[in-house]
Amino acid sequence: MPTDFLAIPDFTREELDGLFVLAERMRSGEYTAKPLAGKSLAMIFMKSSTRTRVSFEVGTYQLGGHALFLSPRDVQLGRGEPIADTARVLSRYVDGIMIRTFAHQDIEELAKYADVPVINGLTDLLHPCQVLADLLTVRQHLGSVTDKKYAWIGDGNNMANSWINAAYRFGFDLDLACPEGYEPADHLLARAQKVAKVRVVRDPMEAAKGAHVISTDVWASMGQEQEQKDRERAFAGFTVSPKLMGAADKKAIFLHCLPAHRGEEVAAEVIDGPQSCVWDEAENRLHIQKAIMAALMGGEKV
Ligand code: CP
Ligand code: NVA
Repeated sequence: MPTDFLAIPDFTREELDGLFVLAERMRSGEYTAKPLAGKSLAMIFMKSSTRTRVSFEVGTYQLGGHALFLSPRDVQLGRGEPIADTARVLSRYVDGIMIRTFAHQDIEELAKYADVPVINGLTDLLHPCQVLADLLTVRQHLGSVTDKKYAWIGDGNNMANSWINAAYRFGFDLDLACPEGYEPADHLLARAQKVAKVRVVRDPMEAAKGAHVISTDVWASMGQEQEQKDRERAFAGFTVSPKLMGAADKKAIFLHCLPAHRGEEVAAEVIDGPQSCVWDEAENRLHIQKAIMAALMGGEKV
């Protein structure tokens, strides 16, 4: 079991399967233990959040623990206190730290200096809790994750990179349709391509063809708001439309980490339509993160 969860490959395939099973027991109500009784989670948010904040806070409470919401307006980190010092100090008070921040290097620095588990709640590079929730949704709706073909449509961002890491761990086929200049991280792509069929293509139809899971995300991520107009031009033709869904497998599901922009990266008919699983996907954030916290902070065996 790793001490931190910064990226999907931090866990072995067996550990990830164990986390899914534990999360499913939590979702069904069968799991009632309180492994975080008397424990606290510090939640540092350098960017906005609805799902991550609420699911971690509620999840900690449901496991018997207590969560603290720390924004840059409230903590000295926002006024330039070094991340290493923040890590050392928080480790004297709390039993785990969840952080959402910009540079991935910052979370690595935090994990290096913290004596308690650090969990990645999104960086510019990765969003691993979200993709594990997405895979839990695939298990819920399609039964298993490994024998599926996955399509990513749009920006080669933190979500796309985490899908690549998931393909690396599980060995599934993944096609990413990204416009030129918006490709995912080369080093993650190269590593995954050694063990799985992972391709970057230009045509969304080519990626969607025969896929069991179609995913997308906003065209401009947090911190890129000023690029919105340029990105709208670059991503023209990359909307997940009913026609694109029609190229996928008949039973294909649509996933989006949310928040979504209807009419941009996804048509309203798709996200609000019968193939969309986005609300289960959002709910699954709670279950998988509880499983991760129980394992890393609560000594639960997976
Ligand atoms: N999907 C996700 O991480 O949502 P929030 O930004 O609301 O946390
Ligand atoms: N790629 C998006 C995901 C939001 C949950 C962002 O980083 O803003």
